[in-house]
Amino acid sequence: MIQRQKGCNDIYGREAKVWKYVDTIIDAMMEKYNYNYIRTPIFEATELFHRGVGETTDIVTKESYDFMDKGGRNITLRPEGTAGVVRSYIENKMYGDPNQPVKVYYNGTMYRYERPQSGRDRELTQFGMEILGSDDPMSDAEVISLAVNIYKMLGLKEIKVNINSLGDTDSRNAYRDALIKYFKPHIKDFCEDCQVRLEKNPLRILDCKVDQENEILKNAPKTLDYLNEESRNRFEKVQEYLDIMQIKYEIDPNIVRGLDYYNHTVFEIEAKVEGFGSNNVLGGGGRYNGLVNQLGGPETPCVGFACGIGRLVMALELEKVELPIVEDIDLFLMYVNDEEKKYAAYLAQELRLAGFIVDTEYTGRGLKGQFKQADRLKAKFTCVLNSEDLDNNEVKVKNNRTKEEEIISLDVLIYYLDEQINTMVHEDFDECDCGCHHDDSDCGCQNDGECKCHDRSGE
Ligand code: HAM
Repeated sequence: MIQRQKGCNDIYGREAKVWKYVDTIIDAMMEKYNYNYIRTPIFEATELFHRGVGETTDIVTKESYDFMDKGGRNITLRPEGTAGVVRSYIENKMYGDPNQPVKVYYNGTMYRYERPQSGRDRELTQFGMEILGSDDPMSDAEVISLAVNIYKMLGLKEIKVNINSLGDTDSRNAYRDALIKYFKPHIKDFCEDCQVRLEKNPLRILDCKVDQENEILKNAPKTLDYLNEESRNRFEKVQEYLDIMQIKYEIDPNIVRGLDYYNHTVFEIEAKVEGFGSNNVLGGGGRYNGLVNQLGGPETPCVGFACGIGRLVMALELEKVELPIVEDIDLFLMYVNDEEKKYAAYLAQELRLAGFIVDTEYTGRGLKGQFKQADRLKAKFTCVLNSEDLDNNEVKVKNNRTKEEEIISLDVLIYYLDEQINTMVHEDFDECDCGCHHDDSDCGCQNDGECKCHDRSGE
């Protein structure tokens, strides 16, 4: 049997519905914040990631899916979305659009040749957003708030935002010098990669996966001690906006991020739920003011974030968040003879186009088997199409919950089902008691007294 590749996943059944639901919330929130969807290619010129993400990053040196195509071009499967978005921004001259900043979001597969483990895959799906063309600290806070609000909207509670600043180029250079000075006497105790990193890019020693437990690494100088006044003021402004937006955060001076393009604000959002294991960072991002210019575009300040959807779905499961996933169907149509089967094909088509979720029999089951199938599909209603009823322009419709049966004229079947299903859904509706008149899963407030929803009565 051919098996799937290591670090890749088949997403199907209920889990696939959860992924789809997560996508709808992402789309809805991105729309509220006025981000436009962007799709860039899954593969790009290898050089883009070498120059963009950084020659000495793990992503480029160890985890890159590189190949040469039939035309002899060096190609890489994208390990992340930012470099491709920046390439597209430059190539399509989006910087010339009077409508600045450019706010875009994406949702797609990325590839990293990592050692597969829980929360760490070789094929991963990320959603992310980028603001290109704004240096305003308010935009850093906006990106963080958007990420947090997507998590909240999905019903996650146990999340923690950690922020830090790497400062501007001068601050980063001062910090780089301090790291070289600090690590030099001890570098022989570090892995071979770190010995190379010392001169090339000492910041990457800090996120080395091999030397993570090394005490010397833990006590290394912190970025915040090397920020110049301007960078410090900027970082304070970001915090001020986060406070205004009522986003809770903590300053974590250990965050440096594993990609080279960052300066100023960097942040990560962790899942605090038990059972997650070590890969509990749901997403991360930060400011990258130099990248557009480095890749051949004009000086353009940018900030962004990305989140692994696999980890997000894992967090939702571990927190046991109830999601409004549709797992039942409205109607299952049953039949016995060929004439009834043809009518089933016709009626299914009509009802589906009228908006109902309808299924029928395709595998030759007898009526008993069809009833069982209707139960497996959690059909709200069933309908046994019987030639005699059809001749009278009628059908028998059975409410599968109450087991009550009614004979309905085919002329009014759509209206009948519509009314019945609405009543059923209304009975199921678990209204939020904060007064917002939403299903608690709709408004995301989970009755915890923190609802900021505009539909709240009196507001
Ligand atoms: P990143 O921290 O490399 O940042 O990845 C962001 C998120 O992608 C991680 O926090 C994690 O949830 C998920 N992720 C990364 N690698 C894996 C993996 N092997 N398996 C499963 N999930 C994974 C970036 O990619 C930056 N482009 C973020 C950004 C956007 N910065 C500015 N704009």
